Parts: sequence; C-alpha cells; structure tokens
Amino acid sequence: MRREAFAVPPGIYLDGNSLGLQPHAAHARVQQRLAEWGEQAALGWDDWFGLAERLSPAIARLVGAHPDEVIATGSITSNLHALVGTLYRPEGRRRHIVATALDFPTDLYALAAWAERGGGELRLIPSRDGHTLHDDDLQAAFTDEVALVLLPTVLYRSGQLLDVAGLTAAAQRAGALIGWDAAHTIGALPHAFHEHGADFAVWCHYKYVNAGPGAPGGLYLHRRHHHLTPALPGWWGNDKGSQFEMAPGYLKASGAAAYQMGTPPILSLAALEGALSVFEDLEMTAVRERSLQLTDLLIRLADEHLPELQLVTPREHARRGGHVSFAHPEAHALSLALRARQIVPDYREPDVLRLAPVALYTRPEELETLVQVLRGLLDSGGHLQHQRVAGAVT
Ligand SMILES: Cc1ncc(COP(=O)(O)O)c(C=O)c1O
Repeated sequence: MRREAFAVPPGIYLDGNSLGLQPHAAHARVQQRLAEWGEQAALGWDDWFGLAERLSPAIARLVGAHPDEVIATGSITSNLHALVGTLYRPEGRRRHIVATALDFPTDLYALAAWAERGGGELRLIPSRDGHTLHDDDLQAAFTDEVALVLLPTVLYRSGQLLDVAGLTAAAQRAGALIGWDAAHTIGALPHAFHEHGADFAVWCHYKYVNAGPGAPGGLYLHRRHHHLTPALPGWWGNDKGSQFEMAPGYLKASGAAAYQMGTPPILSLAALEGALSVFEDLEMTAVRERSLQLTDLLIRLADEHLPELQLVTPREHARRGGHVSFAHPEAHALSLALRARQIVPDYREPDVLRLAPVALYTRPEELETLVQVLRGLLDSGGHLQHQRVAGAVT
C-alpha cells in the first residue's frame, strides 16, 4: 500500500512485527533534528519541548482515543509500571492481578512485582493448546477477587486476536480495571480504546508503526482516570506551563502526558514523527483489509503446499492479528535456512515460525516465493540438518 515510502532491504522481509522497516520520512525527520541540534544546540529545545505532545493526535487516531488520553514515552515495560503502579488499588478480597500464560514475559515481570507489593497474586489464564486462549477461560478468570486485568490485544507468539470490546466489558462487569498490551496491533488494525471504555493500554512503536529500534513506547489512559497522580512522577510529566519554575512540588500535567518521567529522546521521537506521517492519509480499516488479504493468502498457500506446518494462528478474521505462525519441530532450522536465502522470518521458542506480511509494504508475490522456498527446504531435509549445525555455532 505504501511500499515506496520505505527503505526495503534486499530479499523478502517478514519480520515487521519485530522491527518495522524504515520509512524515508523517519530518516528525513531524524536528519532534520540532527541538523537542528548541530545548528542550534540547546536553543533547539524551543521546538523540541512539546514534541511528544504534538504527536498525540496522530497516535490517538491509531488507538481510537482522545489526544489527551495518549502520550509517546518510555517503553511498554516502563509504561506498564507507571500505569499499574497508579491504578492498582488492592482492597480486601479484591487484590489479585490477572494476565495470561502466553503473555510476553516483560508484562508478567512488571505485574508480578506490583501484585507482590499489593499482597495479591498474579493469576495466569491458562492455554489449552499452548498457543491460544479459550474465551471460557478468559471469562472465568474475571472474579470478584480481581483488581486489575492486563491482556494482549494479539498474542505475540500465535497471533491470536482477542475481543477487546467484549473482554473489556466483561472484566469491568466483574469490577476489575482492564488494560491492554497493544504491541502487536497498533499500526496493523483499527482500535477503539476510548469507545470500548478500556482503562489503559500500552504499546511500542517499533513494530507496525515503523518508528525504529528502541522507539519510544506509547500509553493510553481513559479520561476517567486523569484525576489520579502518577505513581512514578517525574519533571517531564509536570504541567508544561510551570515545568521550568523548578518548584519542589509536582504539579501534574493534564491527561496522559503526566506519565512522562524524564527528558524525552528527541532523535527517537523524530523517527516516530516521520513514521506516523506515513499513516496520515491511511484509513486503518483499509490497512486491516489489506493485512487480512495477505494473511489469508499465506494461510491458503500453506494449506496447499506446506501440510507439514501446523497453523497455530486462528483462521477466523475476528481472531487473527497481523501475523501468521506455524509450529514445526524444525522451525528454528527453517528460520535460519530462510535467512540464508535473504528471507527474514521470525522464530519464537520452542518451535514457532512467525511470519508477518505487513500491509504497508509486503507484496503478495513475496508470499508465493516464501512458500516455494519453504517447500524446497522441507523437501531437502539434509539442508535443515546442516542449518541446525551452523545455527548452533552462530
Ligand atoms: C507483546 C509485547 N509486549 C512487550 C514487549 C517488549 O516491551 P518493551 O517495549 O518494554 O521492550 C514486546 C516486544 O516485542 C511485545 O511483543
């Protein structure tokens, strides 16, 4: 849809859900900010000062929120600490935190620390098949002992998409607060966090938003929580009008911007600024439609030509995110062999090959080539044997 907007490395890139390709606009913005630093030094802060806040309308559009409900800052991990530290209020029997056994580990590390502090447990919703979550198990976890729930919009390994609207309502009916880790959906499909009433969300911008390695993360906090004082305050979350009065008392900024802590990384924000501009005239429904066409094609080709691969991503559109995952005992060797042929997949322990055809830059023909190459690799088992040995050394 926008391939010409990206620097595309040689070969076939299917790892955009780990690190998105570099938009030319991101490169240009970083160059611009570097030049400003060179020419203006500290005077550059006149313009850089409100940069993160100026990106909020574009980010809000991607997550379905009001601009004052989002801010680019920190990382998923630090934002989770800041938001959970603020919102989690254990009381009486209601003191546990719920997440899932298939969550990205950093989320669990952060949640476990807060649950322990609050005298609660981190309760993990189990998976029946090791890849996906069953709706009954999700619903069953929302009891009157739960203070806070965090769920992934899409599971990072299998690519299962959860029902944000339905689960938000269910958790809140049970009296819990609910937040979402949207790392694998922002930039890939439409969101409506405010309309669905989600309490909070966190995400990164280095995957489908293409803002570069270690790009600043993002957070959303529903307006109903804006009266709270952040648990981890810092001077950059102070009210902008009085920040440089350097008063000893913290006067929080209004809205999500209060969850910034220290000085923002301007060069990284510049890359985000450029990356967001690629989405300016794109409807997220159209991005999602294209993404589904690509993942449909990949699943159909795999069904036809790669019966040995076990599809672990749900087939239904309503339960499928932006990537497709296959389990295979030789997944690691396959991923190394693909890389040796300039095809970049992603591998997740212990046996999952993750493939992300990205709506903005992947071409259908690339998926056809991928499937042909995989067929050839599976037919020549010896190649894989060799790759395993080579992979063990590197
Ligand atoms: C679902 C999910 N959560 C969290 C992270 C990482 O968090 P952070 O941005 O703090 O490194 C990732 C990284 O890929 C992820 O996929």
